[in-house]
Amino acid sequence: MWVADMDFPIAEPITQAMRDVISVGDLGYPMPTLAADVRQGFAERMQRRYDWSIEPDDVILTQDVIQAIQFVLRTCLDDGAGVAIQTPIYPPFLASLETTNCQLVDNPWIRDGDSWTLDIEGLEQSCIAGEVQALLLCNPHNPMGRVMRRHELEGLARLAVDYDLLVLSDEIHAEILHPGVWHIPIASLGPAIAERTVTFSSASKPFNLAALRLAQMHTTSPQVLAGLEELPNHSVGGLNIFGLTATKAAWAEGDDWLEAMQSLITTNRNLLGDLLAEHIPEIDYVKPEATYLGWLDGTALGLGDEVSKFFLDNAKVVGNRGLDFGENGAGCMRLNFATSSEVIERAIEQMATALAQRR
Ligand SMILES: Cc1ncc(COP(=O)(O)O)c(C=O)c1O
Repeated sequence: MWVADMDFPIAEPITQAMRDVISVGDLGYPMPTLAADVRQGFAERMQRRYDWSIEPDDVILTQDVIQAIQFVLRTCLDDGAGVAIQTPIYPPFLASLETTNCQLVDNPWIRDGDSWTLDIEGLEQSCIAGEVQALLLCNPHNPMGRVMRRHELEGLARLAVDYDLLVLSDEIHAEILHPGVWHIPIASLGPAIAERTVTFSSASKPFNLAALRLAQMHTTSPQVLAGLEELPNHSVGGLNIFGLTATKAAWAEGDDWLEAMQSLITTNRNLLGDLLAEHIPEIDYVKPEATYLGWLDGTALGLGDEVSKFFLDNAKVVGNRGLDFGENGAGCMRLNFATSSEVIERAIEQMATALAQRR
């Protein structure tokens, strides 16, 4: 229950489109028109889902989101630039700062009642101190599944404009929402924020296509476009015909599958919450608003920082190690619930048994 992919079969129209490629038998370089179709498809999807008008020509295709984030960090920021991140955070964000020689400006989420609060005041203090050159946002957020509200995005956009920040917004989980929340791309708020934002996305998360390696990056920022020009020739790499084909099919014909998947993972999200409340009430679990990832705070269990190791060794349940998500992940673990209800039930049962045997 660790790596972020799903135990569900992919949508039939995607399988069919990939079969069609095989039966034609042409695995030479893909036609440029296929990549153009995907850029067009992305623009249409943004319009339809979020009322966000973008030009297909402003969409750049890459092999994965983290690769694209690193291109921007490397080419557009000063050496040693401060990058603000809301932690705990998807570990490759932290690793990307290291490989691109940026400094983490930590802006931790605050646990508040039944949710998480964005510390805009704390972030503004870091901006005033001149520590921040860019915001690296994860919205919806991995690991906590928090979806930023319009007023929060407006607050971040105001800081970006006032303090001349570049905004990198990873929105890969935007299509995995639970009922009652809506995704807003930060770049859709208006021209002032759009021209300093790069938005990253991929069909890989919502349609479970991570092996196919295709992501989208959208920007109209002159600074970013100039930075990307500096990348050595060929460093972005070519694109895979299956990634392009599957993405095009997913957006054209995959929405029924997507809806069914969303409803299943909402059921699983609630099941996980019910089972934890009944069998391991010491674990603090705020039901995520998006994603199929549960953030379990086990600090009250008295197991120390390495909660995931305890459950791996004693319950044979593999979650992600909380500390990999930042220092404030100590005592926590991430659990992927995009699986069957049987697996979720068995995991919680084994975890509860391991705890009972320890007592
Ligand atoms: C927030 C976030 N960004 C990026 C990725 C990975 O994207 P890619 O495989 O395209 O780098 C993930 C995968 O879980 C993720 O959760």
